[in-house]
Formats: sequence, structure tokens, C-alpha cells
Amino acid sequence: MNIVENSDNSVPIKAWDTVLFEKYCRFRFVLTQGLSAHSDTLLDRRPYRAGAHVLDVGCGFGDTTRQIARRVGSCGTAIGVDCAPNFVDVAAHEAQDGDVANASFFAADVQADDLRGPYDFLFSRFGTMFFSAPVAALRNMRKALRPGGELAMIVWRRREDNPWVHEAEQCVRKIVPVVSHEETEEVHCGPGPFSMAGADMVSEMLRIAGYDRISFERFDTDICIGRTLDDAVEFAMALGPAGEIIRLAGEAGKARKGEVVAALRQTFAGRLTAEGVKMPSSSWFITARNGLS
Ligand SMILES: C[S@@+](CC[C@H](N)C(=O)[O-])C[C@H]1O[C@@H](n2cnc3c(N)ncnc32)[C@H](O)[C@@H]1O
Repeated sequence: MNIVENSDNSVPIKAWDTVLFEKYCRFRFVLTQGLSAHSDTLLDRRPYRAGAHVLDVGCGFGDTTRQIARRVGSCGTAIGVDCAPNFVDVAAHEAQDGDVANASFFAADVQADDLRGPYDFLFSRFGTMFFSAPVAALRNMRKALRPGGELAMIVWRRREDNPWVHEAEQCVRKIVPVVSHEETEEVHCGPGPFSMAGADMVSEMLRIAGYDRISFERFDTDICIGRTLDDAVEFAMALGPAGEIIRLAGEAGKARKGEVVAALRQTFAGRLTAEGVKMPSSSWFITARNGLS
């Protein structure tokens, strides 16, 4: 299996701390509600014991870090790490104002920096798909785990099983010219949300990085991408692969906005329910053990 690694994460880190941070703030409600359907299930299926020390990788606003902190109790700790200082600042402020004293946060590139281990567990909700060198990142993460400690990460399965972002992407691709990362000076999120969808490839990466007892469990659930059709269209035009196609196209993307809005409204119309626009999503719950001492 040919796994290509490039060690420079500076472009994705800048993207997460600027344009993507702003978009995540704008759509925080939709994202965290939708993503928590996945993480709540994994956290219930594999509960952390009281007193455990857990690192939340790519923690974003720290919602899951605070949740884990409550679960491990006051003798345990939950530490969130994210490459984007803006996310870390929000997470730290909210933890300070909230009900958990055992959650803390720091900024680091998980691929290369010291992760301040050892931890009993590593957790990640959709925070491990954006590394330019995933094997190096998974190895660096493993080194922060105590021997026999467990990694549990949630990543998206293939785009075809994630209509909540893929239907908008298909629609936008027909209208807006696609600009590749190499053709633009704009920052971008790196390999993208589906980079860990292939179970064979990811299990090989984990094996090379020193993990054993690797398992994949599929989890499917609907995500509400907006309370109204207009909200769903706005969401799709800002985030996910469709939002990135529009942003990277620059003026050409802006010029076709009317056409895109009309096409997305038509795409989502059949998905509108009394609770909003609901669409299927599908993730892998991947677990693996630090097989080296
Ligand atoms: C899709 S968001 C998920 C955020 C959060 N886990 C959640 O579920 O709400 C991906 C997160 O991974 C972080 N991230 C991306 N590359 C990273 C890296 N190399 N090191 C640390 N964090 C990274 C981003 O800044 C972002 O907060």
C-alpha cells in the first residue's frame, strides 16, 4: 500500500485558525448538535472509567472535552488539544465559565508537537482527518499514550454515505468551476473530511504507527443541517466540500450564487421535515491500542 506523507501542516493550521474557525463559529449549533449524535453514542458504548486521563485530539470548541471531564470525575482529567489557538481560547474560556474543573486545553500540531502525555486514552471526534502526514501524526499520538492505552477516533466514512454534505457537493460541482489546492493561494483544510474513510488504508496506517487490536464499527445517523430550507442552503454554501468549492472558486463562485441557491433549494426540498432538513451521515468508530511500550 502506497501511503504518501508530506510533513508541512502550516496551510491547514492557518485555515483552521482563520476562515474555518469563523465558519465553525457561525454554524456552531448545527455542527455540534449533528456531530454529538456520533460522539454521544461512542462515549456511551465505551465509557471511560472514573479517574482516567484522556486527551481529546482536534478538540475544536471543547464540547467533547468537557463531556469527557464530567465522565471521568474529579480524580480524572480531560485535556483538549487543537492546532488552532482561536478554538483553544474559546474552549478554555467556556470551560472556565462552566461546571468542570478538570478540563484544560493547549494549542499544538498533533502531528509534530509534544502532546504532554502519558494518557490512558486518546479520543477524537472528527479531529484526525486533516493531517498532511497521517502516519506521523498517529505515531506522535501513540507516543503520548501509556503502553496498552486506547485510541478511539470518529472519522467520516465515504462521501457517498454522507449525503448531508455530498448531495450539496454534487450539486455545486455542476455549477461552480472546481479550483484545486495547487491552483490557489487560499488556505485550505488539507486532505479533507473523507481522508480516513478507507478502512484498509487507515488500519495499515495505524499498524505502521504502532497500534494493534484495530477495529472499525460503522455508525449511521441523520443530521439536521438547518431548521429551514434557507438555513440548510446557507450551511451547505459555507461548509463541507461544497462550501470549499465555492470559496476556492473566488469571484467565479460568487458570480454563480443565484444558480447555486436555486439548485440547493431543489436538492434539499425533499428532505424538509417538521424538525428541519435532515440528511443521512455515516462514520467509523475506530479503536486501536498502543501495542508498543
Ligand atoms: C472538524 S473539526 C472537529 C472539532 C471537534 N472535535 C468537534 O467535533 O467539534 C477538526 C478540528 O481538528 C483540528 N485540527 C486539524 N488539524 C490539526 C492538527 N494537525 N493538530 C491539532 N488539531 C488539528 C482543527 O483545528 C479543528 O478544530
